[in-house]
Amino acid sequence: AYARAQQAPLLGFAAVPKSLADTVSVPKGYTASVLIAMGDPLFAGVPAFKNDGTDTDFDKRCGEWHDGMEYFGLSANGTRDDGSSNRALLGINHEWVTQTFLHPNGPSPAPRPDAEVIKEMQAMGVTIVEIAKGTNGKFAYVQGSPFNRRITTETVIELSGPARGNALLRTKFSPDGTRTRGTVNNCGTGKTPWGTLLTGEENWNNFFARNAGDNDKRSANENVAFARYGKSVTTEKGSDHVYRWNTAQSGDERFTRWNTSVTAASATEDYRNEFYCQGYVTEIDPYSATAVIKKRTALGRMAHESAAVRAEVGKKVAVYMGDDARNEYIYKFVSTQTWDPADANRTDRIAVGDKYLDAGKLYAAKFNEDGTGTWVELSLSNPAVANYTKYRFADEGDVLIHARIAADAAGATKMDRPEWGNLHPVTGELYITLTNNSNRRLNPTGSQLAPDAANPRSYSDLYAGTKTNTGNVNGHILRIRDADPAATTFTWDIFLFGAEADADPKLINLSGLTEEQEFSSPDGLVFTKSTGLCWIQTDDGALTDETNCMMLAAVPGAVGDGGPLTLDYGSTKVTTRMGKKPTSRTLKRFLVGPKDQEITGLAETPDGKVIFVNVQHPGEDTNVADLADPSKYTSHWPGNAGYGAGGANARPRSATVMIVKDDGGLIGT
Ligand code: FEO
Ligand code: CA
Ligand code: CA
Ligand code: CA
Repeated sequence: AYARAQQAPLLGFAAVPKSLADTVSVPKGYTASVLIAMGDPLFAGVPAFKNDGTDTDFDKRCGEWHDGMEYFGLSANGTRDDGSSNRALLGINHEWVTQTFLHPNGPSPAPRPDAEVIKEMQAMGVTIVEIAKGTNGKFAYVQGSPFNRRITTETVIELSGPARGNALLRTKFSPDGTRTRGTVNNCGTGKTPWGTLLTGEENWNNFFARNAGDNDKRSANENVAFARYGKSVTTEKGSDHVYRWNTAQSGDERFTRWNTSVTAASATEDYRNEFYCQGYVTEIDPYSATAVIKKRTALGRMAHESAAVRAEVGKKVAVYMGDDARNEYIYKFVSTQTWDPADANRTDRIAVGDKYLDAGKLYAAKFNEDGTGTWVELSLSNPAVANYTKYRFADEGDVLIHARIAADAAGATKMDRPEWGNLHPVTGELYITLTNNSNRRLNPTGSQLAPDAANPRSYSDLYAGTKTNTGNVNGHILRIRDADPAATTFTWDIFLFGAEADADPKLINLSGLTEEQEFSSPDGLVFTKSTGLCWIQTDDGALTDETNCMMLAAVPGAVGDGGPLTLDYGSTKVTTRMGKKPTSRTLKRFLVGPKDQEITGLAETPDGKVIFVNVQHPGEDTNVADLADPSKYTSHWPGNAGYGAGGANARPRSATVMIVKDDGGLIGT
């Protein structure tokens, strides 16, 4: 299947050592350079980025905190993907902002100046940007391209699918519940076979405030829902917006809508329901800077990471998704329509999305100890959902808006923070990262959970006193095999366990990772089609005393290529299923990023000769009080690599990096 990869052995490079240097390290024979960074001007006439906190117009600049990313080849007439490896559109998610560096002196306290809030609201969302290969063989982004587009937390977006028009989605902005403003906290991505970008709205709940006493103005049922999605209040104290956008000094509705409280007589006179308008997989047509954007409510509302689409001729389309919070679930959407490959060539792409992503069934995964599992249906057809007593679902739209509660009712398995999932390009098996879970405990209390077959590790006692984190500290990567995209039963195993190389081999370093392989907290996970390699990216807090966050390349096996394994915790024994242990030929560290960042998002050119990788939030932990003294910044990348203004004293910036092999070969060989 990987004809081109036969030309050179996979993982032929020398592993990159762990590093604390403020630079991007790649193997000998490879070169990494910056393609586009936070603040770079996208449109004609927008001034160059000064990077001193005074820049404005972020709705015309590349956004902050680069995250998930997809590559869309661009044909000469610009209407479709012709498989070009020379000209393309990149879709880039922008998850959060580092307030410290976005303003001259860091963020002002609440009530916040409008201009600061506007800058932050515009720096998040999604960037669509044209890139083209120059005569030097390197890609550059095209300022002023008619394809360039910024989607921000303020862009008007349609609510689509079964929850469109639902009573819970009606607001003063959209009294019929069909539209909202903004996509928020965009984390993982997906790419559909019909050429659209899927962007996952993750920790959007942090962007809402609720007034003290708002609980008293809501039904008990509704308060259950707010609590389940992390926005409960006590009558003594409200709940805050993470950046206090709702406090902007003018008091304009543009800002106050981030307070999702009951303030008027009816839901169409205030923004009490604004909270229900975020948390979706949102679909964007990158080939049109004016195409309507749609939130696909059929895929459920949660803390979305990536969305992996499996489309096979004559079969239903499946979309696999993770909900990244402690003890949340893995989901699968299955379309009503079967996949017609002619739809891949249509240019009315959002209409194709309507066909496949607006009608279908949503499921959550339930894992059994014997390596099998079930997709449990989340709809009122499932009696466990329809008859649930802790929350009463009003209709099918309510089930999707509260998919987490439906999955609780249906008895799905609570996981160790499901992050990115993607599909093996040949077998269609799902690989999904479970980044860590401090709530996985041997003797659980409260919201903690005991280890189980699919989440078998807890370090609660093992690391007592030596690590600040407990639970499943290093995370793991789980695999699911569905015989058919619409299958309701599956088999599973654990591909890799993150660990430190010198950790206990019977309870922690179960995959036998070496110094060249050790990693912690897998987060991004993407396959490259040219080589079939599985790329693993980390967002780690446990190994950062030894190394900055990194990316590894793995040669995937297949679900079931290992066997059962029992972890003996003494009084507790847990049996799991694990894949074949990696060797030096099947897992190797490929990249280590600069300081105080995470590596996330990956896209390749179809010829496999260039990959793009994002460096997110270098220097994020710099203290505002140290802004006047650049020597105290925790990172100066990429200024210190010669990109943009500021040099070795530069304020750090999130950026997209392109990586080539100096001999022109495939990346990862
Ligand atoms: Fe945005 Fe769960 O990482
Ligand atoms: Ca992530
Ligand atoms: Ca992070
Ligand atoms: Ca993460």
